[in-house]
Amino acid sequence: MAAALLRLHFHDCFVRGCDASVLLDSTPGNQAEKDSLANANSLRGFAQIDQVKAKLEEVCPGVVSCADILALTARDAIVKIGGQSWVVYLGRKDGVVSVASESMASLPSPFATYTQLVQGFAAVGLNEKDMVVLSGGHTIGTTKCGAFSQRLYGFSGPGAINGTDPTLDPEYAKVLKQQCPQNAPLNTVFLDPSGSFPGQTYDKGYFDAVKANKGVLASDAALLTSSFGASLVAVEASAISPFMTDFGVSMQKMGMAAAPKGAVLQVRKNCHFVN
Ligand code: HEM
Repeated sequence: MAAALLRLHFHDCFVRGCDASVLLDSTPGNQAEKDSLANANSLRGFAQIDQVKAKLEEVCPGVVSCADILALTARDAIVKIGGQSWVVYLGRKDGVVSVASESMASLPSPFATYTQLVQGFAAVGLNEKDMVVLSGGHTIGTTKCGAFSQRLYGFSGPGAINGTDPTLDPEYAKVLKQQCPQNAPLNTVFLDPSGSFPGQTYDKGYFDAVKANKGVLASDAALLTSSFGASLVAVEASAISPFMTDFGVSMQKMGMAAAPKGAVLQVRKNCHFVN
Protein backbone atom coordinates (compact mmCIF):
# COMPACT_ATOMS: atom_id res chain seq x y z
CA MET A 1 0.00 0.00 0.00
CA ALA A 2 3.01 2.34 0.15
CA ALA A 3 2.23 4.01 -3.17
CA ALA A 4 -1.39 4.55 -2.23
CA LEU A 5 -0.53 6.05 1.16
CA LEU A 6 2.14 8.34 -0.26
CA ARG A 7 -0.23 9.67 -2.90
CA LEU A 8 -3.02 10.25 -0.38
CA HIS A 9 -0.79 12.58 1.63
CA PHE A 10 0.30 14.43 -1.53
CA HIS A 11 -3.27 14.87 -2.75
CA ASP A 12 -4.29 16.05 0.70
CA CYS A 13 -1.58 18.69 1.05
CA PHE A 14 -2.11 20.21 -2.41
CA VAL A 15 -5.73 21.09 -1.68
CA ARG A 16 -6.42 23.37 1.33
CA GLY A 17 -3.11 22.35 2.89
CA CYS A 18 -2.57 19.11 4.81
CA ASP A 19 -5.97 19.05 6.52
CA ALA A 20 -7.31 15.61 5.55
CA SER A 21 -9.88 17.26 3.26
CA VAL A 22 -9.14 14.42 0.84
CA LEU A 23 -10.66 11.93 3.30
CA LEU A 24 -14.06 13.62 3.70
CA ASP A 25 -16.99 11.91 2.01
CA SER A 26 -19.34 13.65 -0.40
CA THR A 27 -22.61 14.82 1.13
CA PRO A 28 -25.95 15.56 -0.51
CA GLY A 29 -25.29 18.71 -2.53
CA ASN A 30 -21.50 18.58 -2.22
CA GLN A 31 -19.09 16.49 -4.24
CA ALA A 32 -15.95 15.99 -2.15
CA GLU A 33 -12.32 15.91 -3.38
CA LYS A 34 -12.13 12.12 -3.33
CA ASP A 35 -14.94 11.95 -5.91
CA SER A 36 -13.37 14.42 -8.34
CA LEU A 37 -12.17 13.25 -11.74
CA ALA A 38 -8.55 13.47 -10.49
CA ASN A 39 -9.19 11.12 -7.58
CA ALA A 40 -12.21 8.89 -8.18
CA ASN A 41 -11.37 5.23 -8.87
CA SER A 42 -7.73 6.13 -8.49
CA LEU A 43 -6.87 7.14 -4.91
CA ARG A 44 -6.48 4.09 -2.69
CA GLY A 45 -5.71 3.41 0.97
CA PHE A 46 -8.81 4.89 2.65
CA ALA A 47 -9.56 1.65 4.53
CA GLN A 48 -6.01 1.47 5.88
CA ILE A 49 -6.25 5.04 7.21
CA ASP A 50 -9.56 4.10 8.86
CA GLN A 51 -7.86 1.18 10.62
CA VAL A 52 -5.12 3.41 12.02
CA LYS A 53 -7.64 6.03 13.10
CA ALA A 54 -9.87 3.45 14.82
CA LYS A 55 -6.94 2.10 16.86
CA LEU A 56 -5.86 5.60 17.86
CA GLU A 57 -9.38 6.59 18.88
CA GLU A 58 -9.48 3.52 21.16
CA VAL A 59 -6.41 4.56 23.11
CA CYS A 60 -6.31 8.34 22.66
CA PRO A 61 -9.73 9.64 21.66
CA GLY A 62 -9.84 13.00 19.89
CA VAL A 63 -6.10 13.60 19.94
CA VAL A 64 -4.48 12.57 16.65
CA SER A 65 -5.87 14.29 13.56
CA CYS A 66 -6.56 12.46 10.32
CA ALA A 67 -4.14 14.88 8.65
CA ASP A 68 -1.30 13.83 10.99
CA ILE A 69 -2.17 10.18 10.32
CA LEU A 70 -1.79 10.80 6.56
CA ALA A 71 1.62 12.44 7.10
CA LEU A 72 2.85 9.65 9.38
CA THR A 73 1.58 6.74 7.33
CA ALA A 74 3.13 8.17 4.16
CA ARG A 75 6.50 8.42 5.88
CA ASP A 76 6.25 5.02 7.58
CA ALA A 77 5.14 3.30 4.39
CA ILE A 78 8.19 4.63 2.56
CA VAL A 79 10.50 3.52 5.37
CA LYS A 80 8.86 0.10 5.35
CA ILE A 81 9.78 -0.42 1.68
CA GLY A 82 13.38 0.67 2.17
CA GLY A 83 13.25 4.45 2.00
CA GLN A 84 15.07 6.83 4.32
CA SER A 85 13.10 8.34 7.17
CA TRP A 86 12.33 12.02 7.69
CA VAL A 87 10.99 13.91 10.67
CA VAL A 88 7.25 14.53 10.55
CA TYR A 89 6.20 17.53 12.64
CA LEU A 90 2.80 16.99 14.20
CA GLY A 91 -0.14 19.12 15.22
CA ARG A 92 -2.07 19.36 11.95
CA LYS A 93 -5.80 19.74 12.35
CA ASP A 94 -8.57 18.47 10.11
CA GLY A 95 -10.59 20.79 7.91
CA VAL A 96 -14.34 20.72 7.47
CA VAL A 97 -14.49 21.58 3.76
CA SER A 98 -13.81 19.34 0.77
CA VAL A 99 -14.77 20.44 -2.74
CA ALA A 100 -14.16 18.34 -5.85
CA SER A 101 -13.53 21.32 -8.14
CA GLU A 102 -10.72 22.51 -5.87
CA SER A 103 -8.78 19.30 -6.39
CA MET A 104 -9.17 19.67 -10.15
CA ALA A 105 -7.76 23.20 -9.89
CA SER A 106 -4.90 22.44 -7.49
CA LEU A 107 -3.61 18.98 -8.37
CA PRO A 108 -1.04 18.84 -11.17
CA SER A 109 -2.28 17.30 -14.40
CA PRO A 110 -0.42 14.38 -16.01
CA PHE A 111 -0.48 16.50 -19.19
CA ALA A 112 1.15 19.49 -17.51
CA THR A 113 4.15 21.27 -19.00
CA TYR A 114 7.23 22.00 -16.92
CA THR A 115 6.12 25.59 -16.34
CA GLN A 116 2.68 24.46 -15.21
CA LEU A 117 4.23 21.94 -12.82
CA VAL A 118 6.49 24.60 -11.31
CA GLN A 119 3.49 26.93 -10.88
CA GLY A 120 1.34 24.21 -9.30
CA PHE A 121 3.99 23.35 -6.73
CA ALA A 122 4.74 27.01 -6.02
CA ALA A 123 1.10 27.45 -5.02
CA VAL A 124 1.78 25.20 -2.01
CA GLY A 125 5.15 26.75 -1.16
CA LEU A 126 7.29 24.20 -2.98
CA ASN A 127 10.09 25.23 -5.33
CA GLU A 128 11.38 23.84 -8.61
CA LYS A 129 13.77 21.44 -6.89
CA ASP A 130 10.98 20.12 -4.64
CA MET A 131 8.85 19.55 -7.75
CA VAL A 132 11.50 17.49 -9.54
CA VAL A 133 12.50 15.56 -6.41
CA LEU A 134 8.93 14.79 -5.35
CA SER A 135 8.12 13.54 -8.85
CA GLY A 136 10.43 10.74 -7.72
CA GLY A 137 7.42 9.46 -5.76
CA HIS A 138 6.69 7.76 -9.07
CA THR A 139 9.41 5.24 -8.23
CA ILE A 140 6.47 3.25 -6.83
CA GLY A 141 2.89 2.63 -7.86
CA THR A 142 0.89 2.44 -11.01
CA THR A 143 -0.92 4.62 -13.50
CA LYS A 144 -3.92 3.92 -15.63
CA CYS A 145 -3.26 3.89 -19.35
CA GLY A 146 -5.77 6.69 -19.81
CA ALA A 147 -3.43 9.13 -18.08
CA PHE A 148 -0.83 8.89 -20.85
CA SER A 149 -2.20 6.89 -23.82
CA GLN A 150 -2.42 10.12 -25.81
CA ARG A 151 1.40 9.89 -25.92
CA LEU A 152 1.11 6.48 -27.56
CA TYR A 153 -1.76 6.94 -30.01
CA GLY A 154 -2.96 10.52 -30.17
CA PHE A 155 0.18 12.62 -30.23
CA SER A 156 0.07 15.39 -32.81
CA GLY A 157 2.91 17.63 -31.57
CA PRO A 158 6.21 18.25 -33.33
CA GLY A 159 7.98 15.13 -34.59
CA ALA A 160 5.03 12.80 -33.93
CA ILE A 161 5.69 9.30 -35.29
CA ASN A 162 2.36 7.69 -36.23
CA GLY A 163 0.66 9.41 -33.33
CA THR A 164 3.42 8.53 -30.85
CA ASP A 165 5.30 11.10 -28.80
CA PRO A 166 8.88 11.23 -30.18
CA THR A 167 10.26 12.10 -26.74
CA LEU A 168 9.28 8.61 -25.52
CA ASP A 169 11.92 5.94 -26.15
CA PRO A 170 10.58 4.04 -29.22
CA GLU A 171 11.31 0.58 -27.80
CA TYR A 172 9.63 1.50 -24.53
CA ALA A 173 6.68 2.90 -26.47
CA LYS A 174 6.25 -0.58 -27.98
CA VAL A 175 6.21 -2.19 -24.54
CA LEU A 176 3.69 0.34 -23.26
CA LYS A 177 1.47 -0.21 -26.31
CA GLN A 178 1.31 -3.90 -25.46
CA GLN A 179 0.29 -3.10 -21.90
CA CYS A 180 -2.03 -0.34 -23.02
CA PRO A 181 -3.88 -1.36 -26.18
CA GLN A 182 -6.03 1.36 -27.71
CA ASN A 183 -9.34 1.84 -25.90
CA ALA A 184 -8.16 0.19 -22.67
CA PRO A 185 -7.86 3.32 -20.50
CA LEU A 186 -8.32 1.39 -17.26
CA ASN A 187 -5.38 -0.99 -17.73
CA THR A 188 -2.57 -0.16 -15.35
CA VAL A 189 1.20 -0.01 -15.79
CA PHE A 190 4.02 0.60 -13.34
CA LEU A 191 5.28 4.16 -13.24
CA ASP A 192 8.76 2.68 -12.63
CA PRO A 193 9.09 -1.01 -13.49
CA SER A 194 12.75 -1.24 -12.36
CA GLY A 195 13.96 -3.06 -9.25
CA SER A 196 13.29 -6.45 -7.76
CA PHE A 197 9.66 -5.65 -6.92
CA PRO A 198 8.36 -3.59 -9.84
CA GLY A 199 6.29 -0.66 -8.68
CA GLN A 200 7.32 -1.33 -5.08
CA THR A 201 11.06 -0.71 -5.10
CA TYR A 202 11.85 2.61 -3.54
CA ASP A 203 15.01 3.76 -5.31
CA LYS A 204 16.35 6.23 -7.87
CA GLY A 205 14.98 4.04 -10.68
CA TYR A 206 12.38 6.65 -11.61
CA PHE A 207 15.12 9.15 -12.43
CA ASP A 208 17.03 6.55 -14.46
CA ALA A 209 13.84 5.99 -16.42
CA VAL A 210 13.11 9.67 -17.00
CA LYS A 211 16.72 10.30 -18.04
CA ALA A 212 16.45 7.45 -20.57
CA ASN A 213 13.21 8.94 -22.04
CA LYS A 214 11.17 6.25 -20.32
CA GLY A 215 9.13 8.51 -18.08
CA VAL A 216 5.55 7.32 -18.55
CA LEU A 217 3.42 10.42 -17.98
CA ALA A 218 3.86 13.54 -20.11
CA SER A 219 4.52 15.32 -16.80
CA ASP A 220 7.40 12.90 -16.07
CA ALA A 221 8.92 13.48 -19.51
CA ALA A 222 8.44 17.24 -19.04
CA LEU A 223 11.20 17.27 -16.41
CA LEU A 224 13.72 17.02 -19.26
CA THR A 225 12.34 20.05 -21.07
CA SER A 226 14.04 22.55 -18.77
CA SER A 227 17.79 22.75 -18.27
CA PHE A 228 17.33 22.92 -14.47
CA GLY A 229 15.02 19.90 -14.54
CA ALA A 230 17.25 17.87 -16.84
CA SER A 231 20.36 18.48 -14.77
CA LEU A 232 18.60 17.66 -11.50
CA VAL A 233 17.21 14.45 -13.03
CA ALA A 234 20.81 13.53 -13.96
CA VAL A 235 22.02 14.26 -10.41
CA GLU A 236 19.23 12.20 -8.86
CA ALA A 237 19.96 9.35 -11.28
CA SER A 238 23.72 9.39 -10.65
CA ALA A 239 25.60 6.60 -8.86
CA ILE A 240 25.80 8.74 -5.72
CA SER A 241 22.18 9.82 -5.97
CA PRO A 242 21.00 12.13 -3.18
CA PHE A 243 17.42 11.02 -3.85
CA MET A 244 16.67 9.48 -0.47
CA THR A 245 17.80 12.55 1.47
CA ASP A 246 16.34 15.05 -0.99
CA PHE A 247 12.99 13.28 -0.99
CA GLY A 248 12.73 13.45 2.81
CA VAL A 249 13.57 17.17 2.82
CA SER A 250 10.90 17.97 0.24
CA MET A 251 8.31 15.67 1.82
CA GLN A 252 8.77 17.42 5.13
CA LYS A 253 8.20 20.76 3.37
CA MET A 254 5.14 19.46 1.54
CA GLY A 255 3.76 18.17 4.82
CA MET A 256 3.84 21.70 6.25
CA ALA A 257 1.37 23.10 3.69
CA ALA A 258 -1.00 25.05 5.92
CA ALA A 259 -4.78 25.16 5.77
CA PRO A 260 -6.26 28.46 4.52
CA LYS A 261 -6.25 31.32 7.04
CA GLY A 262 -9.41 31.38 9.11
CA ALA A 263 -10.42 27.83 8.18
CA VAL A 264 -12.48 25.95 10.78
CA LEU A 265 -10.29 23.12 12.09
CA GLN A 266 -10.85 20.20 14.42
CA VAL A 267 -9.65 16.68 15.21
CA ARG A 268 -12.18 14.52 13.45
CA LYS A 269 -13.58 11.49 15.28
CA ASN A 270 -14.03 9.70 11.98
CA CYS A 271 -11.91 10.71 8.99
CA HIS A 272 -14.91 10.44 6.63
CA PHE A 273 -17.07 13.04 8.37
CA VAL A 274 -16.81 16.39 10.11
CA ASN A 275 -17.62 16.15 13.82
C1 HEM B 1 4.49 16.28 -10.59
C2 HEM B 1 3.20 16.21 -10.73
C3 HEM B 1 2.45 14.92 -10.63
C4 HEM B 1 1.55 14.45 -11.51
C5 HEM B 1 1.07 15.15 -12.78
C6 HEM B 1 1.11 13.16 -11.03
C7 HEM B 1 0.18 12.36 -11.67
C8 HEM B 1 -0.10 11.06 -11.33
C9 HEM B 1 -1.00 10.19 -12.05
C10 HEM B 1 -1.81 10.57 -13.27
C11 HEM B 1 -0.98 8.99 -11.43
C12 HEM B 1 -1.76 7.74 -11.83
C13 HEM B 1 -3.08 7.68 -11.13
C14 HEM B 1 -3.96 6.56 -11.64
O1 HEM B 1 -4.00 6.32 -12.84
O2 HEM B 1 -4.64 5.92 -10.81
C15 HEM B 1 -0.07 9.09 -10.32
C16 HEM B 1 0.22 8.07 -9.46
C17 HEM B 1 1.03 8.21 -8.37
N1 HEM B 1 1.62 9.37 -7.92
FE1 HEM B 1 1.75 11.10 -8.92
N2 HEM B 1 1.77 12.87 -9.88
C18 HEM B 1 2.59 13.92 -9.58
C19 HEM B 1 3.37 14.07 -8.46
C20 HEM B 1 3.43 13.15 -7.44
C21 HEM B 1 4.03 13.38 -6.15
C22 HEM B 1 4.60 14.71 -5.70
C23 HEM B 1 3.92 12.22 -5.45
C24 HEM B 1 4.38 11.90 -4.06
C25 HEM B 1 5.35 12.52 -3.46
C26 HEM B 1 3.26 11.26 -6.30
C27 HEM B 1 3.00 9.97 -5.98
C28 HEM B 1 2.30 9.09 -6.78
C29 HEM B 1 2.19 7.68 -6.47
C30 HEM B 1 2.84 6.95 -5.32
C31 HEM B 1 1.37 7.12 -7.47
C32 HEM B 1 0.90 5.67 -7.59
C33 HEM B 1 -0.39 5.53 -6.82
C34 HEM B 1 -0.93 4.11 -6.73
O3 HEM B 1 -0.28 3.17 -7.17
O4 HEM B 1 -2.03 3.97 -6.18
N3 HEM B 1 2.95 11.87 -7.49
N4 HEM B 1 0.44 10.37 -10.27
